[in-house]
Amino acid sequence: MNENIIPHNHEITQADRAKKLGYRPFLIWFVGLSGSGKSTLASNLETKLFNEGINTYILDGDNIRSGLNKDLDFSDESRKENLRRITEVSNLFVDAGTVVLTAFITPFQEERAKIREKMGEKYIEVFVNCPLEECEKRDVKGLYAKARRGEIKNFTGIDSPFEAPLSPDIEIESHKLTIDEGVQKIYDLVIEKIK
Ligand code: ADX
Repeated sequence: MNENIIPHNHEITQADRAKKLGYRPFLIWFVGLSGSGKSTLASNLETKLFNEGINTYILDGDNIRSGLNKDLDFSDESRKENLRRITEVSNLFVDAGTVVLTAFITPFQEERAKIREKMGEKYIEVFVNCPLEECEKRDVKGLYAKARRGEIKNFTGIDSPFEAPLSPDIEIESHKLTIDEGVQKIYDLVIEKIK
């Protein structure tokens, strides 16, 4: 950081905000291949939390890669920068009192370690574990077929790596559970942490 940027100590702290809200805001980060079910789980979990009066917000490719990060592609370097910016934005939202749910592939272990380091206790990593064959079979967006035809380069799982998380806080095998079962599992962990 530039030595001439000196932080101002504001009067209202994160603890003040948590006291007012009645819960501790944090970040729920969904990791997994394209088509694994990250967004579906995040969306359903958000509804459940929102209906209980918790302030929530979802960050995903739709609102991040089309705006803040529209200058970034899918090279390794761009993915890292994508995740760095998302972490910073999430941290601000959490600080402001929101439970943030993010749905990004997040393919690299090193980047995930950085997120955990930045967020500390205010972080839950959810590994949406679905085999590549199953994601490819679903091919909701038709992108796997394009990648197989060579029309998309650096596609995760095809010609760009996905390093599966080794120690996520929770793992959801989305091909073995219903959406409701998956959501309930994450919800149980979240509710324990939030109080
Ligand atoms: S990440 O690697 O930087 O975490 P992110 O989650 O933002 O990836 O974007 C992945 C989404 O972008 C996929 O779900 C898919 O819809 C789309 N996409 C487009 N091109 C690619 C690509 N080359 N690799 C992976 N996903 C891609």
